[in-house]
Amino acid sequence: MILGRRRRVTQELPTLDEARPAGEFVASVLSHLREVVGVGWNLLDVDAEAHRLIREAGATSCYIDYHPVFGASPFGYVICTSVNEGVLHGRPDDRVLADGDLLSLDFAVEVDGWVADSCLSIVIGTPRDEDLQLIRDTEQVMWAGIDQVRSGATVGDIGHAVMTTAHDLGYAINDRFGGHGVGRTMHEAPFVPNHGTPGGGTELVAGQLITVEPFLVPTTSELVVDERDGWTQLSADGSRGAHAEHTLQVTDGAPVVLTARADDPAPRSSLG
Ligand code: MF3
Ligand code: CO
Repeated sequence: MILGRRRRVTQELPTLDEARPAGEFVASVLSHLREVVGVGWNLLDVDAEAHRLIREAGATSCYIDYHPVFGASPFGYVICTSVNEGVLHGRPDDRVLADGDLLSLDFAVEVDGWVADSCLSIVIGTPRDEDLQLIRDTEQVMWAGIDQVRSGATVGDIGHAVMTTAHDLGYAINDRFGGHGVGRTMHEAPFVPNHGTPGGGTELVAGQLITVEPFLVPTTSELVVDERDGWTQLSADGSRGAHAEHTLQVTDGAPVVLTARADDPAPRSSLG
């Protein structure tokens, strides 16, 4: 999401049992797409497959009617498919995936009244080493942020961990987009920036849902909108980008990773 006005609202908080179904569904769809999507898939078919699973589950897409300030029109699709120099908010079109393409799948739905939002970056077909490294680095940066999530910590603690880990790995941070609160809707307070000062910003409370979602491009932090669709955020220099996102429930200890995928390797973080 984009940095916006800070809203001071009393948020209704789900129990863990209430929050779990949306997270599990989002995780299962991303795992499924990682399994089946390959060379020759049209991005519209990726969207259609995600849409089919939404209908089958009786879930509700958070994207299809979404029309924020940073999009030219309602999004119109149920999943973001960002390919290569497409970094964020990739709007599906009839592009056909080719061997070696780097694809980010960003997906959010509501199930039983609560939302989960998650992004997974994958390589189609034969990977280039530098793309695998970029994806690993992006996930490592995400887990460094997730490690900070607990009641009493602040969004600045998360942003600082994301930023310093990215810098240590040689990346610059874009400060326009970042993570966000989640609840009955996809984008709620607080904004969870990918930069920050320890102790700064809003304090987290147990039960709250937030996302941590860094995105990295090795050579630039600048994004430009694709004028052809008014949505897709492209890297300013055409380099490839990766994006990773989980939805978390805050607790007094380590957060619950609601969108954790069963078929993922163990994260490279102290969460184990
Ligand atoms: N995870 C992305 C975000 O929070 C999802 C954007 S949805 C879109 O910004 F429809 F705006 F693309
Ligand atoms: Co998000």
